[in-house]
Amino acid sequence: MSQRKILITTALPYANGYIHLGHLVEYLQADFWTRFQNMRGNECVYICADDTHGTPIMVKARELGITPEQLIAQSYKEHTQDFADFQIKFSHYGSTNSAENKALCEYFYGKFVAGGHTRKQAIKQLFCEHDKMFLPDRFVKGTCPKCGAKEQYGDSCDVCGSTYSPSDMKDVHCSLCGTTPVLKDSESIFFKLNDFKKYLEEWIPKHSSPEISKKMLEWFNEDLHDLDISRDEPYFGFPIPGTDNKKFFYVWVDAPMGYMSSTEQWAKAQGKTLQDIWQDPTREIYHFIGKDIARFHTIFWPAFLKAAELRSPNQVFVHGHLMVNGEKMSKSKGTFIAARTYLNHMNPEHLRYYYSTKLSSSVDDIDLNMEDFVNRVNSDLVGKITNLGSRGGQMLKKKMDGIMSTPDAEGAKLIKSAQERGETIAAHFEARDFAKAITEIRGIADDANKYFDEKAPWKTLETDPAGTKQVITATLNIFRILAIYLKPVLPYYTEKVAKLLGEADYKWSDINTVLTNRSINEYEHLATRVEADKIKAMIEESRQINEKIQAEKKAASTAPAKAAAAPVAAKAAEGDRAPEIEFADFEKVDLRVGLVVEAEEIKEADKLLRLKIDIGNGEIRQIISGIKAAYKPEQLLGRKVLVCVNLKPRKMKFGMSEGMVLAAGTGGSDLFMLTPDEGAQVGQRVK
Ligand code: 2FM
Ligand code: ZN
Repeated sequence: MSQRKILITTALPYANGYIHLGHLVEYLQADFWTRFQNMRGNECVYICADDTHGTPIMVKARELGITPEQLIAQSYKEHTQDFADFQIKFSHYGSTNSAENKALCEYFYGKFVAGGHTRKQAIKQLFCEHDKMFLPDRFVKGTCPKCGAKEQYGDSCDVCGSTYSPSDMKDVHCSLCGTTPVLKDSESIFFKLNDFKKYLEEWIPKHSSPEISKKMLEWFNEDLHDLDISRDEPYFGFPIPGTDNKKFFYVWVDAPMGYMSSTEQWAKAQGKTLQDIWQDPTREIYHFIGKDIARFHTIFWPAFLKAAELRSPNQVFVHGHLMVNGEKMSKSKGTFIAARTYLNHMNPEHLRYYYSTKLSSSVDDIDLNMEDFVNRVNSDLVGKITNLGSRGGQMLKKKMDGIMSTPDAEGAKLIKSAQERGETIAAHFEARDFAKAITEIRGIADDANKYFDEKAPWKTLETDPAGTKQVITATLNIFRILAIYLKPVLPYYTEKVAKLLGEADYKWSDINTVLTNRSINEYEHLATRVEADKIKAMIEESRQINEKIQAEKKAASTAPAKAAAAPVAAKAAEGDRAPEIEFADFEKVDLRVGLVVEAEEIKEADKLLRLKIDIGNGEIRQIISGIKAAYKPEQLLGRKVLVCVNLKPRKMKFGMSEGMVLAAGTGGSDLFMLTPDEGAQVGQRVK
C-alpha cells in the first residue's frame, strides 16, 4: 500500500485551565492513532496548540495579578510538560496567540466581508458608566436567579451550577467598581451562517458519524442563527480590522484557525508552506474532538472554511466524555483529577493502557472504574503480557546462556497465529476501535500463557535444556509480537522490549520476523503493578486541591475584586477617600512591626521583589511586593517595616505572598515604605 499523508488535530485546551484526565481521553487516543499510522509506514502529523483568548483568560490573569501573556506562557509550559510526561508526542504544539494565527484570522475575516457573509446589528449589552466599558458576562456579578446565591458571575452560578444571562439576575453590578450597569446598544458583527445552510446540510453527513450528523441536523429544521463573531473591549484576543481596536474576534472564531496556524508553524519548520500541507488534496485531515464541541466543528468551522474558500477536514472524529466510577467527574469527591496529580502518584503507562482497553469510535462516554483499572493493569498488562517476557527473558538469561534457539513446532504455530491476527488488530486501530484491538492482543497473550504453563519450562531446565530453550524462544517471539502490537499504546514499554531483544524502533511489519539463535540482553523491569493505596492518595490530593480552589474563589468573590486594584490606586492619587469604616473594621487589620531579613529581585517580573520578613516569635513570612521600581533589595535589608499579617495569603506566579508591607504613594517609583520609630520591637502590634 502506498504511503498515506495524514494530519490530525485535537481540541485546543484553554490556557486558563489545567489538563485533567478527561482531556486525556482525547489526547491519548489521538496519540495512539498517530503512532499506529506512523508504524504502518504512513506520514501522520499530530497538531495541537493552546487556546489562549477570551474573557475567562483575561479574568484569571487579573485575579493572579499577571498579564494574559504571562498566564499563557505559564500554561504553555505546564500543558506541554503534562503531555510529555504522558508520552504524548505532538508534531507541533502552538498557540492561538501567534502572529500566524492573527494573519490567518484577518484573512478569513477579509473573505467573510468580501463574500458578503457579515452583517452588523446593534444589540443591547450591559455598560458600566463608571468604568466606561461594556461588561462581558464575567465582569458582571449579582444574585443567582435560581438559588439566590450572592456575588455570582453574569453567566453561571458557582453554587447551583445553573446558567443564565445577566438580565435574569438580581442586584446586578459591575465586578470592577460595584456600580449598577445600564443597558446600552453596541454594534455587533455577525457571520451569516445561514448563507451556508444548504452546503452544511450536505457536508455534515459526509464528514461525521451518523450519530453526530443526526444530532447536528436537528438545528436545520429552521433557519440557522447567525453567529456574533465580535466582542467589545476589553477582550483578550485579536482586534477586528476596521474597528479602531474596539472590537475583537470572539475566541471561537480564532480557536479553530489555531489548527491551521499551528500547522503553518510545523510546515515552516519542514521548509514548506501552510498551502503545501492544508490544501494538498492527497493529505487526509481529521479533527479529534469531544461531543460537547461538535457544533463548533461540524457547523461553524466548515462554514468558515467554505467562506474562506479553503478545504475542510475529511472527518470530524467525536468521542464521549470521561466518567469516573460510573459518575460524572466530581471535584468534591476528588474524581476530577489533574494530569499532574495523577503523575504525582501513578504511572502514565497504566492510564494509557487502561484507556486503550475502553476506547472505541463511538460517542459513548467511557468509564474510568478504579477497581477495573487495577485489574486490567495488574492481571492483563502485568500478569498476562509482561509475565511472558519477564519469565522467558530471565530464565534464558539467568538459568541458561542467554541465546535463543528455534521455536518448537507448537510454538511456531502460535507465532504464526499471532502474526496472522495482525491485520485484524490493525483494522481495529485504523477504525479507532482500540478496545477491540486490545481484546485481540490479550487473546494472543492468553494462548501464549497456556502454552508456557503447559510446557512448564522451569521444570525441564535440567532434564531437557534444548527443548526448554525452544519453548522460551517461542514464548519470547510471541511476546515480541505483542510488544509490537502494543507500541501505539505503550511506546516506551515496547522500546524496552526491543532493547531486551537487541533491536530498535519497531515498524508494524516487523511482526513477520522470527528471532532465532539470538543472544538477548539483561532483562530490565518492564511494568509495575497499580497499588490501590496510591489511587486513594491521588483522589485525596485531588479533593484537597479542589477544596483549596473553592476557598480561594470564595475569598475572591467576597473581597473587593482584585481587578479593581488599578482603578482604585488611580482614584486614591486623585485624592478620593475610601468610604468611612467602623472602629471594629479597623480592628480587624492586624498590623505588626516586621524586619526585612531577606530581599531579592524577581528577575522574571517587572515590578516585584521577594521579601522575607520576620514578624516576631521567629515567624518569617514571604511577601511578594510590587516595589521594584522604588527600592533596590539592598535598601530594604535589615529595615523595619509595617506589615499587615492577617491578609489572606495569595498565590502568585512566583510563590505565595503571605501579607502586605505598607507604603505610601501611587505606585511605580512613587512609593515610600512606612518605617516605625527607633524603639519599636519586631512583632509589636501597631494600634
Ligand atoms: O472546549 C475547549 O476546551 C476549547 N478550548 C476547544 C477549542 S478547539 C478548537 F476549535 F480550537
Ligand atoms: Zn464598573
